Amino acid sequence: MAVLKIKDRHKPATKERTLSMAILFDKQEQIFYLHTKNTSYVMGVLHGKYLLHLHYGKKIHAYHNFVKNLPIHNDTTWCGVDIMDSDAIYSTELLPMEYPTYGSADLRTPAFHAEYETGSAVTCLGYCGYEIYHGKESLSGLPATYVESDSEADTLEITLVDSLTGLKIVLSYSVFEDYDVITKSVRAVNESVQPIDVQSILSSTTYLFDKNYEFVHLTGAWARERHIQKQPLMNGTMQIDSKRVASGHIHSPFLALARPWATENQGEVYGYSFVYSGNFIMQAETNQQNLVRVNIGINPFGFHWLLTPGEVFQAPEVVMTFSNSGFGTMSRRFHRIYRQRLCRGKYRDSERPVLINNWEATYYDFDEEKILNIAKKAHDVGVELLVLDDGWYGKRDTGDSSLGDWRPYLKKLPNGIDGLADKIAEMGMRFGLWFEPEMVSENSDLFRTHPDWYIGIPGRPKTPARGPGQLVLDLTRPEVCDYIVEALSAVLRSAKISYVKWDMNRNITEIGSATLPANRQQELPHRYMLGLYSILERLVTAFPDVLFEGCAGGGGRFDAGMLYYFPQYWTSDDTDAIERLYIQHGTSLVMPACTMGAHVSAVPNHQVHRTTPLQTRGHIAMAGQFGYEMDLGKLSEEETELVRQQIRQYKEIRSTIHFGDLYRLRSPFEGENTAWEYVSADLKQVVLIYCTIRAHVITGMTQIRFEGLKENAQYRNTETGEIYDGDFLMNVGLYLSDSKDYATKLMTFELC
Ligand code: DGJ
Repeated sequence: MAVLKIKDRHKPATKERTLSMAILFDKQEQIFYLHTKNTSYVMGVLHGKYLLHLHYGKKIHAYHNFVKNLPIHNDTTWCGVDIMDSDAIYSTELLPMEYPTYGSADLRTPAFHAEYETGSAVTCLGYCGYEIYHGKESLSGLPATYVESDSEADTLEITLVDSLTGLKIVLSYSVFEDYDVITKSVRAVNESVQPIDVQSILSSTTYLFDKNYEFVHLTGAWARERHIQKQPLMNGTMQIDSKRVASGHIHSPFLALARPWATENQGEVYGYSFVYSGNFIMQAETNQQNLVRVNIGINPFGFHWLLTPGEVFQAPEVVMTFSNSGFGTMSRRFHRIYRQRLCRGKYRDSERPVLINNWEATYYDFDEEKILNIAKKAHDVGVELLVLDDGWYGKRDTGDSSLGDWRPYLKKLPNGIDGLADKIAEMGMRFGLWFEPEMVSENSDLFRTHPDWYIGIPGRPKTPARGPGQLVLDLTRPEVCDYIVEALSAVLRSAKISYVKWDMNRNITEIGSATLPANRQQELPHRYMLGLYSILERLVTAFPDVLFEGCAGGGGRFDAGMLYYFPQYWTSDDTDAIERLYIQHGTSLVMPACTMGAHVSAVPNHQVHRTTPLQTRGHIAMAGQFGYEMDLGKLSEEETELVRQQIRQYKEIRSTIHFGDLYRLRSPFEGENTAWEYVSADLKQVVLIYCTIRAHVITGMTQIRFEGLKENAQYRNTETGEIYDGDFLMNVGLYLSDSKDYATKLMTFELC
C-alpha cells in the first residue's frame, strides 16, 4: 500500500491542518484530534512525556486548556506524585494514561507488563513522536479492517519509548471518518540487546469520565450463544474473558458501555469489538475517583512472549464506535464496516446461496443415495447449495475417529466426493463440504503417523472431548500447518466444491507443544492463533471462489477475527426458532445479518424439543443467511409448497437482509415479542419480521413504529397493496396482535 508521509517520523507537526482532515496535531497545545463524521477522540501530551486520554465521544472542535482541565483531583493521591511542575502536581495513579504500564504510581491494571533481563518488571514509557499517513497498513499475520484506497482512512502512529530498557511501543489509530469508526492496535519493538519477557500487551486503553454506565456484553453457552446481559459499573473491575484459546460460546470479544437510560435509538453507547479469535479480556476498571479505565486485548493470563532484540510483536486490533443515539446506531456502524471492510473476497458483496445441510437430517447415518435424495428434493424447491456435513471421510461413523484423514469414506460414498459432487452439479446445484481441520482423532491414520502433532503434555492424561480421542493439532508447527493446507487443497481440487464449512469442536487443554523450547511453551495460545490465521490466509487466497462458513460447535468462535476469512458463520447449534430470536438478536449487536447462518430444521426441535410452525421457522431463519437443516422429503405436499414459497420470498428480500440496515424494533429480552426491520441501502425495500413469543388473552395490540424510512415518501405493502406514508409508519406505525404463541408475520414494503 502506498503510504503518504505527511510529516517525518518523530517530528511534531504544526498546528496548521495537515493533508489529513481526520487527524490533526495541535503543536502548541500538544493535542491530537481524531475526527470521524460525528465523533472525536482526543489525546494530550503532558509535560512532553505523558500521553493522556482526554475525550472520546461527540465531536468537538477544540479541547481547551487540558493541563488545567483534567478530570481528576490532583490533591487526593496517596500512592505517589510522579509529575511535578511549578503550578501543579500530578500522579499517574489517577491520570487517564493512554497506554499504562506497571512500575510507577499507576497501580491500576496496566496495558503493558514485561520482565527485563535484570529481573525488573518496571516499564516507564515516555512520548517520543508521531507520524500521520493516509490509508491503513495491514497487521502482520493478523486479521484487521482494511481500506481499498488510501482516501478511506487516515492513520496516526504515536511512539512511546522506555529509554532505560530499550522498549518501543507504537500506538496505531486509524480513522474511518465516514464509518464513524476508529480502530486501534499496538506493536512492541525491542530496541535493546537483551530479550524482553512480555507478559501483557493489550491493544487498547480508553476512559470514561464517570461511572454511570452499564457493562453490556454477550454471554451464553453451547446452543445458547450471545444473550445480552447488562450490569451497572461498580468500583473495582468488571471483566469478560476467555482462557480457552478460542473466543468461545460463553463470552464474545464484544463490549458496550452504555448509559443506563440508553435504548435502541437514544443515549450514549460506546461499542468495542476485538478482532481476535483467541484468549481475550475486556475489562472496565473504576477507580476511587470514578474514572473508568477500559482495557481490551489478548488475555494476559496464559500469555508470554519472549521478544528478542530487534523483534516486533504486533497486538491485534480493536474496533470502536461511539453512538449518541443508542445501540441501534452502534450496531449499524459495526455492521457496515464489518460487511464492507473486514469481510473479504468474492462473497463480500454478493448474495450468498440458500443452502441445505444434512447434519440434523442424517447425522452420521448417510450414504450417497440418501444425500442425493435430500439434494433432489431441495433443488426442486429452489435450494441452491447442498452441504455435506460431518461423517464423509476416513472411517467416520461416530464422533470418535478419523479427524485428520480427509479422504472419502468409500463405504458411504463409493463414487468419492468427486462422484457425488458431479451428480449434484448435474442437478444444477452447488456442492459444499464440512471439515474440522484443526483436529486429529487418536483413532486416525494421521495420529498413527504423527503421534506428537497434537497439543498435550507427555505423561499427563489427555482431557477427553466429544467422545474419547479428539485432540487439537499443534498449529505452532509449520509442518502441521502445511499438512492442513495440503490435505484440504487436495480435496478442494479433486471435486466441484464451492463451499466449505470449517468446524472446531473442542478447546485446548493441557497446553504443551512437542517442539517449542521450555521458555516459549507459554507462547502457544497466541502462536496457535497465528498458525490458524496463516492457514486460513493461504486457503482463502488459493480458493477465492469458495465460500467459507465458520463454525465452532455452533457459534463458539463467532468473532470479528473470523469474519476476515469467513464471510458467514454458523450462529448456533440451536436451530429452534424461538431460541434463535434471542441468539440472533444478541449476535446482531455487533455482527451483520449476512454473516449469521440461520436454518429451518425439523420439529420437535432437536435441541429444545419445541414444536413451532414451519412458517415461523422460515421467517426467523430469513433474518440471517438462510438455509434448511432437515430432510425436505419428509414434508407433506402442503409443507413442501410452503418451503418453495419461503425460498422464493427469501430470494426477493435477500439483498435487503444482507446489505440493508437493521433496526431492532422489539427485543425478546425485554418483552414477549420480537420485531426486526431491514431497510435496503437504496431505501426502496423494507422488510419487517415480527414474532410473538407468548400470547395472552385480551392484551393490547403491539405498536410497531418503523425507523429509517423517508418521511415524505410512500410505501406499498407488497402483499396487500396498502399504501402508507413514511411519516405515518415511523410515527404511528402498525398495530400487531400477539394472540398466538410463536406466530410470525413477514411484511415487505416497496417505495412507491
Ligand atoms: C458442530 C456443528 O456446529 C454442527 O453443525 C455439525 O457440523 C457438527 N459439529 C458435526 O460434527
